Amino acid sequence: MEKLVIKGGRSLDGTVRVNGAKNAILPGMAAVLLDKSGGESVLGNVPRIRDVVLMAEILRSLGAKVSWEGSQLTINTRDLSNYAIPEQLMLEMRSTVFLMGALLARLGQVRISHPGGCAIGTRPIDLHLKGLVALGAQIREQHGFIYATCRRLAGTDIHLDYPSVGATENIMLAAVYASGATVIHNAAKEPEIVDLQNMLNAMGARIRGAGTDQIRIQGVKQLHSVEHAVIPDRIVTGTLMMAAVAAGGDILLEGVVPAHLEAVTAKLRETGAQIREENGRLRIKATERPRAVDTLRTLPYPGFPTDLQAPVMALLTRADGTSVIIENVFDSRFNHVNDLRRMGAQITVDGRTAVVKGVPSLTGAVVTAQDLRAGAALVLAGLAAHGETVVEGLHHLDRGYESLEGDLAQLGAEIKRLDGEVEPS
Ligand code: UD1
Repeated sequence: MEKLVIKGGRSLDGTVRVNGAKNAILPGMAAVLLDKSGGESVLGNVPRIRDVVLMAEILRSLGAKVSWEGSQLTINTRDLSNYAIPEQLMLEMRSTVFLMGALLARLGQVRISHPGGCAIGTRPIDLHLKGLVALGAQIREQHGFIYATCRRLAGTDIHLDYPSVGATENIMLAAVYASGATVIHNAAKEPEIVDLQNMLNAMGARIRGAGTDQIRIQGVKQLHSVEHAVIPDRIVTGTLMMAAVAAGGDILLEGVVPAHLEAVTAKLRETGAQIREENGRLRIKATERPRAVDTLRTLPYPGFPTDLQAPVMALLTRADGTSVIIENVFDSRFNHVNDLRRMGAQITVDGRTAVVKGVPSLTGAVVTAQDLRAGAALVLAGLAAHGETVVEGLHHLDRGYESLEGDLAQLGAEIKRLDGEVEPS
C-alpha cells in the first residue's frame, strides 16, 4: 500500500501550474454522451486523476471509444449501445449519477446502482430523481438498481429544494433533448455549472443562466462533437493556497481563476496571509503563525466550499486563537478530525460544528485518509508538524489530486510517495 512520508517544518517557495477541475471534467465527459453526430470530441486540461480513469472506463463499458494523451481526452460515442452502468464502477464514484440524465436523453433508458463516492454523509439522490421524473422519466427501483426510462422528455419548470450541484447538472444534461423549455429554479451556481453550460452550448445546446439560480434550457434535436478545455480546479488551487499558509512561504499559482476563490481568499486573508490576485495567477505569502478566523460556514457557491473545509481546518489547528467551523453542506464531514487530534490538534465537534483551538505546533504521526479532502488536510497538517508524518489511504487522495506531493515537492516541501511498509523514524 502506498504512503506519503512528509518531514514537516519546511516553508514553501516557488511556482505551480494548477490542473483542470475534477468537478468540471466529470460532467463534461457525461455531456459527450449527448453527441449524436458520430464525431470525435476533444476535452482539454484534463486532470490525470483516478475519477477520470473510472469515468473513462464507464464510458468504454457503454460502448464509447476513449483515448487519453497528455491532458487531452478524445471521446467518440457513435456506437453507444449499453445503458447499464457497471455496479462496481458506480460504487467507486458517486459522480456517475449524472450519467442518468445524459443516457436518458440519448438512449431513452439507463440503469444505475445507488452511487458510492466519498463517505461524507448520507448523500441521497432524491433531487436528481425528482428532476428527471418532472421531465417525464419513469423510474423504478428493484434489487438495489434504479431503472429510468422515457420516450422524449418534455421541458418543464423544476424547483430544486436545495441547489445541488449534481442534480442541476443532471437535469441540464437530460433537458438538452427535451421538447420545449426547462427552467431550473434554485439551481446551483458553481463555476463548474457555467463550464458545463459553455461546453453544451458549444455542442449546439441552447442554455442560459448558469452561474445564477435560474437556468433555462431550450430543447434541441441534435448536438454535435466539441473541443473544450475545462476550467482550472479551484479546490486544488485552494488546497495549495492553504498549504502555503499552513507551512508558511511565498508561492505563485498559475493557470487559475482567482474570481472562483473569493470566499477562500477572504478567509485566508483573515489568517494574516497576503494574497495578490493577478490575471490567471494567485500569489500567497504567509510568514507568521496563522491567526484564528471568524466563524467559517461552508455554503453553496459563492460561499466557502465544503471541499476546502478539511484543509482549512488543518491550518487552523495551528492558528493563534480559536476558530469555529460550521459544515452546512454535508451532514457528516469531519472524517479528518480524529487524525488531526492524533497529531496534537485540539478540536471538539458537536453535530455540524467544530471548534478548533489553535496550538503552537503539531507533531508528526501515522494517519489515514478517510476521504479525498480529509487526505489533503492530513498532508497539510504534516507539512506544518514537527517531525515525520506518514499518510496512508492514498487511493482517496488520488481520486482528486493529480499529484499533490509532486506540487508540494516542487514548492520545496520534503514529501515523497513510498510503496509498502514505512516505519516512522
Ligand atoms: C458536488 C461536488 C463535490 C462537492 C459538492 C458540494 C462533483 C463531482 N462533486 O457533489 O465535490 O463537495 O458538489 O459542493 O461535482 N443532496 C440531497 N439530495 C440530492 C442531492 C444532494 O439531499 O438529490 C444533498 C447532499 O446530500 C448534500 C448537499 O445536497 O448534503 C449537496 O450535494 P450536491 O451539491 O448534490 O453535491 P454533489 O453534486 O454530490
